[in-house]
Amino acid sequence: MTVHFIGAGPGAADLITLRGRDLIAASPVCLYAGSLVPEALLSHCPPGARIVNTAPLDLDAIMAEISAAHAAGQDVARLHSGDLSVWSAMGEQIRRLKALGIPFTVTPGVPSFAAAAAALGAELTLPGLAQSVILTRTSGRASPMPEGETLANFAATGATLALHLSIHRLKEIAEELAAHYGPDCPSAVVWRASWPDERVVRAPLSEIAEAVGESMERTALILVGRALSAEDFAESRLYAPDYDRRFRAGRAEAVKGSS
Ligand SMILES: C[S@@+](CC[C@H](N)C(=O)[O-])C[C@H]1O[C@@H](n2cnc3c(N)ncnc32)[C@H](O)[C@@H]1O
Repeated sequence: MTVHFIGAGPGAADLITLRGRDLIAASPVCLYAGSLVPEALLSHCPPGARIVNTAPLDLDAIMAEISAAHAAGQDVARLHSGDLSVWSAMGEQIRRLKALGIPFTVTPGVPSFAAAAAALGAELTLPGLAQSVILTRTSGRASPMPEGETLANFAATGATLALHLSIHRLKEIAEELAAHYGPDCPSAVVWRASWPDERVVRAPLSEIAEAVGESMERTALILVGRALSAEDFAESRLYAPDYDRRFRAGRAEAVKGSS
């Protein structure tokens, strides 16, 4: 018996890996994390599967479900939205599984920041403008930010920011970031990226809060950085004709072979 943690992706039911889909199909128990995991994914569960929405459960109750499956020798597909490496609460479940000696696997998923970037048609790292992306959040009721992980510190790097779990504080975030990135810095809010009702608002930092208004709650990402709508940036050296690449040597042969 194994617990399979599976990144369910950002919302669109076809943005799950083939491995994740196959593990769901092979597991007689499926635990999924509430409204952010698309119900359509549950259609991959085998007939008769036990399917449990864990949104109303606490950690003890989730572990009780896993322990019951363990006792019955049944694999568990454990679905969390996006990817599991950020804000999934997987860490605390793994700690309990290790203590109980229950085996587990981890299958990554498409994170929401990548789906939001796709909605914008944007590369978040452009030569000379931004070569780093900071995935962060602001503090919430249950999750204070560790000292040092401040917006000001992140903004000082000039990197592209992807702010999760923070749409309710858009106005103050935009004001604080404008002091570092400049009020004209491109920003965007992507609401429910990849869902059928996805919405995108783009505006400079000084206008983004007003442009969004009250219309987007909860499942939204705030993206900030010069790379977001830049046209004036250098081409990457990777594809430059004079760039000496290990794999470029065989290019002429490859082109000949394909004709
Ligand atoms: C609990 S975190 C989960 C993050 C997830 N593990 C990931 O890989 O993106 C939830 C936050 O992620 C962001 N989020 C998740 N899905 C999203 C989507 N489809 N569109 C925009 N933001 C999303 C929102 O900021 C939301 O408040």
